[in-house]
Amino acid sequence: MAEHLDAEQWGDWWRNRSLTSFHGHFRHNYDGSLRLFWEERFATLPRGAAILDLATGNGALALLAAEYSATHDRNFRITGIDYATIRPESLQEDHPLLADIRFLGNTPMENTGLEDASQDLVMSQFGFEYGNMPATIREIRRLLRPGGCFSAMIHHRDSAVLEQAREALAQTKRCEKSTVTKTAAALVELQQKLAREGSLDTQDQQRAQKLHHALASELDKLNRYARQLKDPSHVRMFTQSIMVLFDRRNAARISPEQRLEAIDRLTTENLGYRRRMKDLQGAALADKDFLTLKRLLEQQHFASPDIRPQEYANRHFCHTVSTCLPPGSGLSSPDPYP
Ligand SMILES: C[S@@+](CC[C@H](N)C(=O)[O-])C[C@H]1O[C@@H](n2cnc3c(N)ncnc32)[C@H](O)[C@@H]1O
Repeated sequence: MAEHLDAEQWGDWWRNRSLTSFHGHFRHNYDGSLRLFWEERFATLPRGAAILDLATGNGALALLAAEYSATHDRNFRITGIDYATIRPESLQEDHPLLADIRFLGNTPMENTGLEDASQDLVMSQFGFEYGNMPATIREIRRLLRPGGCFSAMIHHRDSAVLEQAREALAQTKRCEKSTVTKTAAALVELQQKLAREGSLDTQDQQRAQKLHHALASELDKLNRYARQLKDPSHVRMFTQSIMVLFDRRNAARISPEQRLEAIDRLTTENLGYRRRMKDLQGAALADKDFLTLKRLLEQQHFASPDIRPQEYANRHFCHTVSTCLPPGSGLSSPDPYP
Protein backbone atom coordinates (compact mmCIF):
# COMPACT_ATOMS: atom_id res chain seq x y z
CA MET A 1 0.00 0.00 0.00
CA ALA A 2 1.56 3.31 -1.09
CA GLU A 3 2.08 5.98 1.56
CA HIS A 4 1.73 9.56 0.37
CA LEU A 5 3.33 12.59 1.92
CA ASP A 6 0.78 15.28 2.55
CA ALA A 7 1.33 19.01 1.97
CA GLU A 8 2.39 19.54 5.57
CA GLN A 9 5.04 16.79 5.42
CA TRP A 10 6.41 18.23 2.17
CA GLY A 11 6.39 21.66 3.81
CA ASP A 12 8.63 20.23 6.56
CA TRP A 13 11.10 19.15 3.88
CA TRP A 14 11.14 22.53 2.10
CA ARG A 15 11.76 24.29 5.40
CA ASN A 16 15.18 22.66 5.58
CA ARG A 17 16.56 24.96 2.86
CA SER A 18 16.95 22.26 0.20
CA LEU A 19 16.81 23.29 -3.42
CA THR A 20 15.56 19.85 -4.57
CA SER A 21 14.11 16.75 -2.93
CA PHE A 22 17.27 14.73 -3.66
CA HIS A 23 19.01 13.80 -0.44
CA GLY A 24 22.61 15.01 -0.82
CA HIS A 25 22.51 15.36 -4.64
CA PHE A 26 21.86 18.32 -6.96
CA ARG A 27 22.78 20.75 -4.22
CA HIS A 28 23.47 23.40 -6.88
CA ASN A 29 20.49 22.37 -9.05
CA TYR A 30 19.78 19.83 -11.79
CA ASP A 31 22.74 19.71 -14.13
CA GLY A 32 24.25 17.88 -17.13
CA SER A 33 21.77 16.19 -19.49
CA LEU A 34 18.83 17.24 -17.28
CA ARG A 35 19.67 20.92 -17.54
CA LEU A 36 20.26 20.50 -21.27
CA PHE A 37 16.81 18.96 -21.79
CA TRP A 38 15.19 21.99 -20.16
CA GLU A 39 17.37 24.53 -21.94
CA GLU A 40 16.28 23.03 -25.26
CA ARG A 41 12.65 23.65 -24.22
CA PHE A 42 13.33 27.21 -23.06
CA ALA A 43 15.14 27.96 -26.35
CA THR A 44 11.89 27.41 -28.30
CA LEU A 45 9.99 30.05 -26.30
CA PRO A 46 9.48 33.66 -27.40
CA ARG A 47 10.68 36.64 -25.36
CA GLY A 48 8.29 37.39 -22.50
CA ALA A 49 6.84 33.86 -22.51
CA ALA A 50 4.86 32.72 -19.48
CA ILE A 51 6.15 29.55 -17.84
CA LEU A 52 4.49 27.59 -15.06
CA ASP A 53 6.36 25.05 -12.93
CA LEU A 54 3.98 22.54 -11.35
CA ALA A 55 4.88 21.14 -7.90
CA THR A 56 7.87 23.44 -7.85
CA GLY A 57 9.14 22.66 -4.32
CA ASN A 58 11.77 25.26 -3.52
CA GLY A 59 11.89 26.24 -7.19
CA ALA A 60 14.80 24.26 -8.68
CA LEU A 61 13.31 23.95 -12.17
CA ALA A 62 11.80 27.44 -12.13
CA LEU A 63 15.29 28.67 -11.26
CA LEU A 64 16.75 26.92 -14.35
CA ALA A 65 14.21 28.85 -16.43
CA ALA A 66 15.09 32.13 -14.68
CA GLU A 67 18.80 31.53 -15.28
CA TYR A 68 18.18 30.78 -18.95
CA SER A 69 16.02 33.88 -19.24
CA ALA A 70 18.69 36.08 -17.64
CA THR A 71 21.57 34.74 -19.75
CA HIS A 72 19.57 34.79 -23.02
CA ASP A 73 17.69 38.06 -22.42
CA ARG A 74 14.24 36.39 -22.65
CA ASN A 75 12.35 38.20 -19.93
CA PHE A 76 10.33 35.05 -19.14
CA ARG A 77 7.49 35.43 -16.65
CA ILE A 78 7.86 32.43 -14.40
CA THR A 79 5.42 31.08 -11.82
CA GLY A 80 6.00 28.11 -9.53
CA ILE A 81 3.13 26.45 -7.65
CA ASP A 82 3.10 23.74 -5.02
CA TYR A 83 0.49 22.42 -2.61
CA ALA A 84 2.93 22.64 0.30
CA THR A 85 4.07 25.75 2.10
CA ILE A 86 7.35 26.26 0.27
CA ARG A 87 10.42 28.31 1.27
CA PRO A 88 12.29 29.46 -1.86
CA GLU A 89 13.02 32.79 -0.17
CA SER A 90 15.29 30.93 2.29
CA LEU A 91 17.61 30.11 -0.65
CA GLN A 92 17.72 33.56 -2.25
CA GLU A 93 21.11 34.40 -0.83
CA ASP A 94 22.71 31.56 -2.83
CA HIS A 95 20.27 31.86 -5.78
CA PRO A 96 19.26 35.52 -6.20
CA LEU A 97 17.24 34.81 -9.37
CA LEU A 98 14.65 33.01 -7.23
CA ALA A 99 13.48 36.53 -6.39
CA ASP A 100 12.35 36.99 -10.03
CA ILE A 101 9.92 34.06 -9.83
CA ARG A 102 6.33 34.29 -8.60
CA PHE A 103 5.85 31.46 -6.11
CA LEU A 104 2.43 30.28 -4.96
CA GLY A 105 2.45 27.77 -2.11
CA ASN A 106 -0.67 25.92 -0.91
CA THR A 107 -1.78 25.64 -4.53
CA PRO A 108 -2.71 22.20 -5.93
CA MET A 109 -1.73 21.45 -9.52
CA GLU A 110 -5.20 20.03 -10.22
CA ASN A 111 -6.76 23.43 -9.53
CA THR A 112 -4.23 26.26 -9.70
CA GLY A 113 -6.67 29.17 -9.84
CA LEU A 114 -4.52 30.73 -12.59
CA GLU A 115 -6.06 32.33 -15.65
CA ASP A 116 -7.28 30.32 -18.70
CA ALA A 117 -4.85 30.23 -21.65
CA SER A 118 -2.23 32.19 -19.74
CA GLN A 119 0.86 29.96 -20.15
CA ASP A 120 3.25 29.15 -23.01
CA LEU A 121 4.96 26.29 -21.21
CA VAL A 122 3.70 24.20 -18.32
CA MET A 123 6.53 22.11 -16.95
CA SER A 124 7.30 19.82 -14.08
CA GLN A 125 10.31 18.05 -12.67
CA PHE A 126 9.35 15.08 -10.51
CA GLY A 127 6.12 16.79 -9.51
CA PHE A 128 3.37 15.94 -12.04
CA GLU A 129 3.36 12.24 -11.06
CA TYR A 130 2.51 13.14 -7.44
CA GLY A 131 -0.86 14.60 -8.39
CA ASN A 132 -4.09 13.28 -9.86
CA MET A 133 -3.15 12.62 -13.47
CA PRO A 134 -6.47 13.15 -15.34
CA ALA A 135 -7.35 16.27 -13.31
CA THR A 136 -3.87 17.76 -13.76
CA ILE A 137 -3.91 17.16 -17.53
CA ARG A 138 -7.28 18.93 -17.78
CA GLU A 139 -5.83 21.82 -15.77
CA ILE A 140 -2.72 22.00 -17.98
CA ARG A 141 -4.90 22.13 -21.09
CA ARG A 142 -6.97 24.92 -19.53
CA LEU A 143 -3.85 26.92 -18.67
CA LEU A 144 -2.04 26.65 -22.01
CA ARG A 145 -2.41 29.08 -24.88
CA PRO A 146 -3.05 27.58 -28.35
CA GLY A 147 0.29 26.13 -29.42
CA GLY A 148 1.48 26.04 -25.79
CA CYS A 149 3.55 23.08 -24.60
CA PHE A 150 3.76 20.69 -21.68
CA SER A 151 7.05 19.07 -20.69
CA ALA A 152 7.88 16.97 -17.68
CA MET A 153 10.49 14.72 -16.19
CA ILE A 154 8.71 11.87 -14.48
CA HIS A 155 10.01 9.10 -12.24
CA HIS A 156 10.01 5.68 -13.91
CA ARG A 157 9.64 2.58 -11.78
CA ASP A 158 12.70 0.90 -13.39
CA SER A 159 15.04 3.92 -13.26
CA ALA A 160 18.33 4.29 -11.40
CA VAL A 161 16.62 6.80 -9.08
CA LEU A 162 14.05 4.20 -8.06
CA GLU A 163 16.71 1.55 -7.61
CA GLN A 164 18.51 3.93 -5.27
CA ALA A 165 15.23 4.79 -3.51
CA ARG A 166 14.54 1.10 -2.86
CA GLU A 167 18.03 0.71 -1.36
CA ALA A 168 17.60 3.86 0.72
CA LEU A 169 14.22 2.64 1.95
CA ALA A 170 15.76 -0.66 3.05
CA GLN A 171 18.50 1.29 4.87
CA THR A 172 16.04 3.50 6.75
CA LYS A 173 14.03 0.44 7.80
CA ARG A 174 17.17 -1.31 8.98
CA CYS A 175 18.25 1.76 11.00
CA GLU A 176 14.79 2.00 12.53
CA LYS A 177 14.79 -1.71 13.47
CA SER A 178 18.24 -1.54 15.02
CA THR A 179 17.09 0.26 18.22
CA VAL A 180 20.41 2.19 18.18
CA THR A 181 18.66 5.48 18.95
CA LYS A 182 16.69 4.01 21.87
CA THR A 183 19.84 2.49 23.39
CA ALA A 184 21.77 5.74 22.83
CA ALA A 185 19.02 7.80 24.48
CA ALA A 186 18.90 5.46 27.51
CA LEU A 187 22.66 5.82 27.86
CA VAL A 188 22.51 9.62 27.72
CA GLU A 189 19.78 9.62 30.37
CA LEU A 190 22.18 7.76 32.67
CA GLN A 191 24.87 10.33 31.83
CA GLN A 192 22.41 13.05 32.84
CA LYS A 193 21.74 11.24 36.12
CA LEU A 194 25.47 11.01 36.78
CA ALA A 195 25.91 14.75 36.11
CA ARG A 196 22.96 15.53 38.39
CA GLU A 197 23.79 13.22 41.28
CA GLY A 198 27.59 13.06 41.05
CA SER A 199 27.63 9.20 41.02
CA LEU A 200 25.61 6.17 39.92
CA ASP A 201 24.60 3.28 42.15
CA THR A 202 25.82 -0.23 41.30
CA GLN A 203 22.61 -1.13 39.50
CA ASP A 204 22.84 1.93 37.22
CA GLN A 205 26.55 1.32 36.62
CA GLN A 206 25.76 -2.22 35.47
CA ARG A 207 22.94 -0.92 33.30
CA ALA A 208 25.27 1.68 31.74
CA GLN A 209 27.79 -1.06 30.95
CA LYS A 210 25.11 -3.23 29.33
CA LEU A 211 23.85 -0.30 27.27
CA HIS A 212 27.41 0.50 26.13
CA HIS A 213 27.88 -3.06 24.95
CA ALA A 214 24.48 -3.15 23.29
CA LEU A 215 25.19 0.14 21.48
CA ALA A 216 28.61 -1.06 20.28
CA SER A 217 27.14 -4.33 19.05
CA GLU A 218 24.20 -2.66 17.26
CA LEU A 219 26.53 -0.16 15.58
CA ASP A 220 28.81 -3.01 14.57
CA LYS A 221 25.88 -4.89 12.99
CA LEU A 222 24.85 -1.77 11.07
CA ASN A 223 28.42 -1.18 9.89
CA ARG A 224 28.65 -4.79 8.66
CA TYR A 225 25.35 -4.34 6.84
CA ALA A 226 26.70 -1.11 5.29
CA ARG A 227 29.73 -2.95 3.90
CA GLN A 228 27.42 -5.14 1.78
CA LEU A 229 25.74 -2.15 0.12
CA LYS A 230 26.59 -0.40 -3.14
CA ASP A 231 25.80 3.01 -1.69
CA PRO A 232 25.64 2.82 2.11
CA SER A 233 25.51 6.61 2.57
CA HIS A 234 22.38 6.65 4.74
CA VAL A 235 23.51 3.92 7.18
CA ARG A 236 26.96 5.51 7.34
CA MET A 237 25.47 8.92 8.15
CA PHE A 238 23.27 7.25 10.78
CA THR A 239 26.05 5.33 12.57
CA GLN A 240 28.51 8.22 12.37
CA SER A 241 25.97 10.66 13.84
CA ILE A 242 25.65 8.37 16.87
CA MET A 243 29.36 7.62 17.18
CA VAL A 244 30.23 11.34 17.24
CA LEU A 245 27.93 11.79 20.24
CA PHE A 246 29.75 9.12 22.25
CA ASP A 247 33.30 9.98 21.16
CA ARG A 248 35.27 10.79 24.33
CA ARG A 249 36.90 13.75 22.56
CA ASN A 250 33.49 15.40 22.35
CA ALA A 251 32.53 14.71 25.99
CA ALA A 252 33.04 18.29 27.17
CA ARG A 253 31.80 19.90 23.95
CA ILE A 254 28.35 18.29 23.67
CA SER A 255 26.00 18.44 26.67
CA PRO A 256 23.69 15.48 27.44
CA GLU A 257 20.72 17.67 26.42
CA GLN A 258 22.35 18.37 23.06
CA ARG A 259 22.98 14.62 22.69
CA LEU A 260 19.31 13.82 23.31
CA GLU A 261 18.27 16.53 20.82
CA ALA A 262 20.67 15.12 18.21
CA ILE A 263 19.29 11.59 18.74
CA ASP A 264 15.73 12.90 18.39
CA ARG A 265 16.67 14.75 15.20
CA LEU A 266 18.28 11.63 13.76
CA THR A 267 15.15 9.56 14.52
CA THR A 268 12.95 12.19 12.82
CA GLU A 269 15.31 12.45 9.82
CA ASN A 270 15.35 8.68 9.38
CA LEU A 271 11.55 8.52 9.50
CA GLY A 272 11.20 11.48 7.11
CA TYR A 273 13.62 9.93 4.63
CA ARG A 274 11.76 6.59 4.81
CA ARG A 275 8.47 8.38 4.09
CA ARG A 276 9.91 10.35 1.16
CA MET A 277 11.38 7.20 -0.39
CA LYS A 278 8.04 5.38 0.04
CA ASP A 279 6.22 8.36 -1.48
CA LEU A 280 8.62 8.36 -4.42
CA GLN A 281 7.97 4.66 -5.02
CA GLY A 282 4.23 5.27 -4.95
CA ALA A 283 4.51 8.18 -7.41
CA ALA A 284 6.81 6.54 -10.02
CA LEU A 285 5.07 5.38 -13.20
CA ALA A 286 5.42 2.00 -14.90
CA ASP A 287 5.40 1.57 -18.70
CA LYS A 288 1.65 0.91 -18.65
CA ASP A 289 1.06 4.17 -16.74
CA PHE A 290 3.00 6.08 -19.41
CA LEU A 291 0.64 4.57 -22.01
CA THR A 292 -2.30 5.86 -19.96
CA LEU A 293 -0.63 9.27 -19.72
CA LYS A 294 -0.20 9.35 -23.52
CA ARG A 295 -3.87 8.45 -24.02
CA LEU A 296 -5.05 11.09 -21.54
CA LEU A 297 -2.92 13.76 -23.24
CA GLU A 298 -4.28 12.79 -26.67
CA GLN A 299 -7.84 12.95 -25.32
CA GLN A 300 -7.10 16.56 -24.34
CA HIS A 301 -5.89 17.26 -27.94
CA PHE A 302 -2.16 17.30 -27.20
CA ALA A 303 -0.28 16.43 -30.39
CA SER A 304 1.75 13.18 -30.57
CA PRO A 305 3.09 13.15 -27.00
CA ASP A 306 6.77 12.24 -27.08
CA ILE A 307 7.56 9.99 -24.11
CA ARG A 308 11.06 8.60 -23.78
CA PRO A 309 13.75 7.52 -21.31
CA GLN A 310 16.14 10.21 -20.09
CA GLU A 311 19.70 9.30 -19.19
CA TYR A 312 21.87 10.96 -16.59
CA ALA A 313 25.46 9.84 -15.90
CA ASN A 314 24.90 7.00 -18.40
CA ARG A 315 21.97 5.52 -16.51
CA HIS A 316 18.22 5.57 -17.02
CA PHE A 317 17.28 8.46 -14.74
CA CYS A 318 13.60 9.04 -15.54
CA HIS A 319 11.19 9.43 -18.49
CA THR A 320 10.46 12.71 -20.23
CA VAL A 321 7.19 13.85 -21.75
CA SER A 322 7.00 16.62 -24.33
CA THR A 323 3.92 17.66 -26.22
CA CYS A 324 2.17 20.80 -27.47
CA LEU A 325 -1.36 21.87 -28.25
CA PRO A 326 -1.94 22.54 -31.94
CA PRO A 327 -1.65 26.30 -32.68
CA GLY A 328 -5.36 26.64 -33.52
CA SER A 329 -6.65 24.79 -30.48
CA GLY A 330 -7.55 25.64 -26.93
CA LEU A 331 -8.91 28.73 -25.30
CA SER A 332 -7.94 32.10 -26.71
CA SER A 333 -5.29 34.13 -24.93
CA PRO A 334 -6.31 37.20 -22.93
CA ASP A 335 -2.73 38.44 -22.72
CA PRO A 336 -0.45 37.64 -25.69
CA TYR A 337 3.14 38.71 -24.91
CA PRO A 338 2.63 42.15 -23.42
C1 LIG B 1 9.71 15.35 -5.43
S1 LIG B 1 9.12 16.96 -5.04
C2 LIG B 1 9.72 17.84 -6.45
C3 LIG B 1 9.86 19.32 -6.25
C4 LIG B 1 10.55 20.09 -7.35
N1 LIG B 1 9.88 20.01 -8.61
C5 LIG B 1 12.01 19.67 -7.51
O1 LIG B 1 12.36 19.12 -8.57
O2 LIG B 1 12.78 19.90 -6.60
C6 LIG B 1 7.40 16.79 -5.30
C7 LIG B 1 6.59 18.03 -4.98
O3 LIG B 1 5.25 17.82 -5.37
C8 LIG B 1 4.42 18.56 -4.50
N2 LIG B 1 3.05 18.04 -4.69
C9 LIG B 1 2.60 16.80 -4.45
N3 LIG B 1 1.30 16.69 -4.79
C10 LIG B 1 0.93 17.90 -5.27
C11 LIG B 1 -0.28 18.42 -5.79
N4 LIG B 1 -1.37 17.67 -5.91
N5 LIG B 1 -0.29 19.71 -6.21
C12 LIG B 1 0.81 20.49 -6.12
N6 LIG B 1 1.98 20.05 -5.62
C13 LIG B 1 2.05 18.77 -5.21
C14 LIG B 1 5.03 18.33 -3.14
O4 LIG B 1 4.62 19.29 -2.20
C15 LIG B 1 6.52 18.42 -3.49
O5 LIG B 1 6.97 19.73 -3.33
